[in-house]
Amino acid sequence: MENSRRGFMGKVLGVVAGVGAIGALYPMKRTWDPLPSVKAAGFTTVDLSELEEGVLAIEKWRGKPIFMLKKSAATVSAQTAEQTARDVVVDGQHYLIAIALCTHLGCIPAFSEAKKGFLCACHGGEFDISGIDTKAPPPSPLEIPPFKIAGSTVVLGETGPEYEKMKEAGVLA
Ligand code: FES
Repeated sequence: MENSRRGFMGKVLGVVAGVGAIGALYPMKRTWDPLPSVKAAGFTTVDLSELEEGVLAIEKWRGKPIFMLKKSAATVSAQTAEQTARDVVVDGQHYLIAIALCTHLGCIPAFSEAKKGFLCACHGGEFDISGIDTKAPPPSPLEIPPFKIAGSTVVLGETGPEYEKMKEAGVLA
């Protein structure tokens, strides 16, 4: 009799503990799951016409910082074909759009107006005004995120014909 009562109590306690554990796990799972808005979004839309010439803007896309720079006509005319091939052109205006993470070890390079480029303080790497690596150790240019042009806006996270063209030209490699 005593034994069966203990057995019963043990089972009840087991069930209660199990329910408690599930109750504790549920809020944890909710914390780990991405927010519905983040999942559905994944896109960043920026009106490029609002950018100021020569002034670096930093946007955010999928948790990554994104450099956006409206280039002056003088800057564009001084560029090489290789540099211009990386420009996003909207209404005749050239923009640098690139993921702001150094391709060496992921630091955020700083814009240098004087040097017309980006300097990475971590190990001395440098990138030009189009995000092309000009001084080691970065092994490659700043990455260009997938983008789509819609009027004067750019949508990061979508792939438009301009992005595909860059891809075909080997600019993104
Ligand atoms: S992380 Fe930029 S040079 Fe090393």
